[in-house]
Amino acid sequence: GHKWTPVRTLTSALDKQEVLIRGRVHTVRAKGKSAFLVVREGGATVQVAFFVDEKVVSKQMVKYISGLSKESIVDVWGVVSVPPEALASTTQQVELSGRKIYAVNKATPQLPISVDDAARSEQAIAEGEKKGEKYVRVSQDTRLNNRSIDLRTPANQGIFRIQSQVSQLFREYLLSQKFVEIHTPKLISGSSEGGASVFHLQYLGQPACLAQSPQLYKQMAIMADFGRVFEVGPVFRAEKSFTHRHLTEFTGLDFEMEIKEHYEEVLDVIDGLFVSIFEGINARCQEELEAVNSQYPYEPLQFLPQGCRIKFADGIQMLHEAGFKDADPHGDLSTELERELGKLVKEKYHTDFYILTDFPIEARPFYTMPSPVDPRYTNSFDVFIRGEEIISGAQRIHEPELLTKRATECGIDVKTISAYIDAFKYGALPHGGAGVGLERVVMLFLALNNIRKTSMFPRDPQRLTP
Ligand code: 4AD
Repeated sequence: GHKWTPVRTLTSALDKQEVLIRGRVHTVRAKGKSAFLVVREGGATVQVAFFVDEKVVSKQMVKYISGLSKESIVDVWGVVSVPPEALASTTQQVELSGRKIYAVNKATPQLPISVDDAARSEQAIAEGEKKGEKYVRVSQDTRLNNRSIDLRTPANQGIFRIQSQVSQLFREYLLSQKFVEIHTPKLISGSSEGGASVFHLQYLGQPACLAQSPQLYKQMAIMADFGRVFEVGPVFRAEKSFTHRHLTEFTGLDFEMEIKEHYEEVLDVIDGLFVSIFEGINARCQEELEAVNSQYPYEPLQFLPQGCRIKFADGIQMLHEAGFKDADPHGDLSTELERELGKLVKEKYHTDFYILTDFPIEARPFYTMPSPVDPRYTNSFDVFIRGEEIISGAQRIHEPELLTKRATECGIDVKTISAYIDAFKYGALPHGGAGVGLERVVMLFLALNNIRKTSMFPRDPQRLTP
């Protein structure tokens, strides 16, 4: 076998060595007896210069190279050299003097979108337009329709490599805290979160649903003495609303744990977990963060190492004092008020990440534990990044009678969840947990404006393909 060198590892340390790379034809330019090829692999690019000479590079070869279509896959043998001035158009500081090339696979010359167009920032477009240049703006829909090309941009490479690290860091932290990873069914007999957002399907002739969350099953795992559990898996919501932050399928990062004394034990896990995720991303993904930032500039996330917790009632008061008189102390917060509260919290506590606790009972699902001190409230919480929700969670009801009563009050047919309610009849442990939306965490950490940017192949009310 040959020795392959990844493009991103081409540095001046390899000066004068012959290397073999595989990548895509990013651009190609012919000039007299030479051809300049920029080869891209992942987000990294390097220039390869072929000059006609007596021995290895023939005229025909240069002609052949000049005719290669963009995005074709090529194997290139070349000698590393360090140009006197860094090449502004590539990510690597060195170039290759081309010796041999082999086209592994040719791309159609009629590309629906170009990677350069898809990778251009709004700022670069605006600056170019001032100078009279004309650029193609690639719309969100066009990107998603041609996702396998769109995903090749450095920013998208960064986003999904960061996303991979978020779920990795989620796993690492919870495993270090003695959580057990579980897998629960996605084909289930009834709704798990209540409400209308359930996908119905036929299960071999019997009505069934796609799981709206692992909620009921992760709780049953606690009743089965696993102590602390987590799951990374798909969540399905038949959301008809077409917004910047709702998908019909997303990735849920869920955990559930026994509570010994107080539901704040769950909040302690969240604070530790997210400090570990944020610090981990900053430490491990510097290149990826820069790639995202150069297409979608953002303010780095501010967070407090000790966390920040605010009671719902106090949050409402902050809103009232700031003039948002319609904030309802016993209802839920609208998206707009969540954002406003986020701004107020940032001004007062200098953090983009905070936990709002003790929500009114009207705003929470049936399984949420009412507050022992004031039954109008609950032992529940939402977590926000930059004023938008990324997590919701709570202590859960573990007495079967109260659970049956609350389910009925919330309009749930208890027959469909009888196995779940039964699980609490055989000795039930106090417990709580939370559900995190992976795409939301990545979107808000990077201050992106649409959840479709952080879902590789997003599903929404109008999109079932690709
Ligand atoms: O707030 P949700 O619906 O809560 C639950 O599913 C509970 N079982 C969690 C728990 O353990 N108590 O969803 C949890 C998180 C939200 O905070 C949000 O980040 C994300 O999942 N989420 C969505 N993400 C994308 N598209 C949607 N339609 C989402 N709905 C919720």
